[in-house]
Amino acid sequence: MTPRPSPTRALLSLRLLAPLAVVAALFGGCATETIRVVVDTDLDAEAGAVVCVEPHAARIGATVLARGGNAVDAAVATAFALAVTWPEAGNLGGGGFLLHRAADGDATFVDYRETAPAAATPDLFLRPDGTVDPIRVRLGYLPVGVPGTVAGLAAAHQRFGSRPWAELVAPARRLAEDGFLVDAPLAESIARAAAELSRCDEASRVFLRPDGTPLGAGDRLVQSDLAATLALVEEEGPRAFYEGEIARRIVDDASSRGGILTRSDLASYRAVLREPLRGEYRGATVIAGPPPTSGGCVLVESLNQLEGFDPAGLGVGSAAELHLLGEVLRRSFLDRARWLGDPEFVSNPLERLLGEAHAASLRAGIDPSRATPSDVLAADLDGTLPPAEGSTTHFSIVDRHGNAVANTYTLEESWGAKIVARGTGIVLNNEMHDFNVQPGRSTRAGRIGTAPNEIAPGKRMLSSMCPTIVERDGRLLLVTGSPGGRSIPSTVLRVVTAVLDHGLSPRDAVESSRVHHGLYPDRLDVEATVPPEVRASLAARGHALRERDRQGDAHTIGVDPATGRLVAAADRRRSGAAARPVDPR
Ligand code: DON
Repeated sequence: MTPRPSPTRALLSLRLLAPLAVVAALFGGCATETIRVVVDTDLDAEAGAVVCVEPHAARIGATVLARGGNAVDAAVATAFALAVTWPEAGNLGGGGFLLHRAADGDATFVDYRETAPAAATPDLFLRPDGTVDPIRVRLGYLPVGVPGTVAGLAAAHQRFGSRPWAELVAPARRLAEDGFLVDAPLAESIARAAAELSRCDEASRVFLRPDGTPLGAGDRLVQSDLAATLALVEEEGPRAFYEGEIARRIVDDASSRGGILTRSDLASYRAVLREPLRGEYRGATVIAGPPPTSGGCVLVESLNQLEGFDPAGLGVGSAAELHLLGEVLRRSFLDRARWLGDPEFVSNPLERLLGEAHAASLRAGIDPSRATPSDVLAADLDGTLPPAEGSTTHFSIVDRHGNAVANTYTLEESWGAKIVARGTGIVLNNEMHDFNVQPGRSTRAGRIGTAPNEIAPGKRMLSSMCPTIVERDGRLLLVTGSPGGRSIPSTVLRVVTAVLDHGLSPRDAVESSRVHHGLYPDRLDVEATVPPEVRASLAARGHALRERDRQGDAHTIGVDPATGRLVAAADRRRSGAAARPVDPR
């Protein structure tokens, strides 16, 4: 039986039709304070805005802005809220990257990627015959990396935050405590994962009904254990998570269920502040992440190659342009597989990979009328984990001062390892899956076995996440990023070039059809919106095509070329909401 939508759900669904002023009172204990925020998919962002996958979290972030909080304050509140309202990817039990650009142009990359536990070995997921155990690499405690999210948010807050930490955690805690009504996208997400979630008692208790069926649209999702966990984080800060009661609970549960995670793994976890990676493209500066994500490197290397072509002359979404995107991505992904890994463990040759000489030599091999088979480029690679159908989530924020945050964080697959740590409400990641889990074995199906990303104790697994900020003439131009595993940099490349090559508005850039080429499998993924004649022309150039309903979910803020104003554009491929204060302080 599907419960009838409640009045609140009906109200929220209005966001797709018209801007909606929401009164967010009772915030931070200020029971008498009235804060008004607008929630929609498209909004003026000059006075600050939050754009993410889910409206409650967007509203919570915008409420922080409305109370005078800055972009990082809003990011902390939004990230904690998404752990409650978008549990397939929003998280406390995973990790990610937060890119911050201050209004004065100073940029900082907060790396809160998970690390391998101290007991992890390169062959952790191999069976006696040397093949990867497909279950142990995805489910249960073995693929759980040491979570970085709480440390990362705390590090960003310590450096840039202006509002008290507790005030930023409290709205998520309250939402977990009071519950909220499941909407259609969340119901779909729970339904898709229900069979695997049902194997974990704790996950079943929270996300399934007593009869074992998944919570559906209109049901109330209350997460009492998660609320108690958030209350500890609210009161005690990250220590509660890494050294206190929460750490104890996670490790006790891991030990009783075959995990290798220890108290010392958690206690020694650190978020790292890194210098962002920068690239120049068509007179703009693209700011993105360095390793341990490959996202920024793949993005900038692809842009460097494109700089010698004329995508604008080819037209956005033309077969000739999409072919070029595929070809530059294919080459960047080869360098990713060959070279990139955690910078504390391998030396990433970024200067060479992102230099003009390298771009020129890659460019010289690109035939505008013909796909280069990946085997020709990657003879040494012996043909590169099949892409997991997973989830990650990205949000973009600007505040009224012009500070910006691009944050992408993940549990790796949707719902991570499909386990909730007993007594904590925390969904745990299966990020170990992002290591090259079968050393030496790369395949044409897409498995990568190269050395730089092999498992080692304390090492961060290579990511593809790519939170990105673009500036021109010292002015903020674009804040974006996306989920999508290895297709993430491809999605970001589409959004960035739609703006920089084709002059599209943030909305049109987000709507533009996306393609992805990851070297192996040797095929070009195209969104279903790519027209038949364009596909035929791509096939005629030698591309094997795979149609995907959608690629990524790029919640974006950028300058509208028509007005010169910053606007927020929620990606509507899944759900997506932008929110902004009505009366910013
Ligand atoms: O860090 C990474 O690149 C992956 N763990 C991200 C996984 C992902 O985006 C799955 N997607 N939709």
